[in-house]
Amino acid sequence: MKGVILHGGSGTRLRPLTYTDVKQLLPIAGKPVSEYALLSLIEIGITEINIIVGEVGEKEVRDYYGDGSKWGVAISYTYQGKPLGIAHAIGLTESFVNNEEFVVVLGDNYFQEGLNGLYNDFKQQDADSLIALTKVSNPSQFGIAEVENGKITRLVEKPKNPKSNLAITGAYFLKPDIFSIIKVLKPSWRNELEITEAFQLMLDRGMKIGYSTIAGWWKDTGTVDEFLDCNRMVLDKIETDIPEKPEWQNVPLSGRVHVGRNVKLMGTTRVLGPCYIGDNTVVEDSFIGPYSSIGTNCHIRKVEIEDSIVMDGSSIEISDGTRISQSLIGSNVSVKPSLSRSRTIRLIVGRDSKIEL
Ligand code: DAU
Repeated sequence: MKGVILHGGSGTRLRPLTYTDVKQLLPIAGKPVSEYALLSLIEIGITEINIIVGEVGEKEVRDYYGDGSKWGVAISYTYQGKPLGIAHAIGLTESFVNNEEFVVVLGDNYFQEGLNGLYNDFKQQDADSLIALTKVSNPSQFGIAEVENGKITRLVEKPKNPKSNLAITGAYFLKPDIFSIIKVLKPSWRNELEITEAFQLMLDRGMKIGYSTIAGWWKDTGTVDEFLDCNRMVLDKIETDIPEKPEWQNVPLSGRVHVGRNVKLMGTTRVLGPCYIGDNTVVEDSFIGPYSSIGTNCHIRKVEIEDSIVMDGSSIEISDGTRISQSLIGSNVSVKPSLSRSRTIRLIVGRDSKIEL
């Protein structure tokens, strides 16, 4: 079986971060969100993986994943260009797939329990493809499956009046027959070739779509709030990992905490997990609270932070005891106290930034 990761698209709902960064490369606990997809493919034994790249950030994706040897697998790339739809992207992989069964994972989806259960169900069910379903409270935002007597009867992309709350998550187990279906699809109202419509066409032609319900949490990390939810899920599974005999032995650490190499924890700093602190980061007189993911080479000074992500190279100083919470701070950002005596603030922020004071 081969694997495909979708790494195209434009990430409009994660702006402003996605003006400069590829959405699936945004990090959670030290890894791009798409690396969790890669690891879930490797976990089920897949060694040949094709990454679909779009017109945004192609070089960054290739630079990060390379030929896959860092993970002991072979990674190749297919250029999609404009995001013309999930089914369009899958259609481009026909020569890579080369008549084998394959699994496609959306690079911005996170499956807390990985793909093992789904893969086993695909092997056991005699179906033409297998989709992974989970109950959601906002079904109009997803592809939705209607199920009767244990069988999928209808599939609709983002229905206005959903008849079911079973969302189609972004892991599809497929057979090469899908390519002939994709070839006859027409673009949808959003000008995309929709994977949900491909599955509906398979049903119309009497083919069988199997399904499995997701064990554990699943997240589509398309928005800031979903990204922070995903950060919580990843950190909920983090194991304690701290360097042996660090210089900062007197700093109180509790809960499950990852502290990278060459990290300096100084002064009155306290760390309460689950949280992640990347390599070479300096933390002075600060509180790093639960569900914080701090990147590499950051400088955190006089800050209280929880339930937030700070990306690589950022420097944050707050000083007045205000706690940072539910925040997503990009890479190389600088936040520091104003030198002015009066309570003034100075903001240099780009388009689509969000600030709550
Ligand atoms: O997350 C699950 C949902 O993903 C499903 O329930 C929907 O049926 C499915 O259509 C999809 O909906 P979204 O609107 O959330 O898809 P999005 O445009 O965010 O794209 C999902 C991923 O696929 C994302 O990592 C970008 C990538 N992509 C997307 C398109 C449209 C590509 O690589 N190429 C594309 O052309």
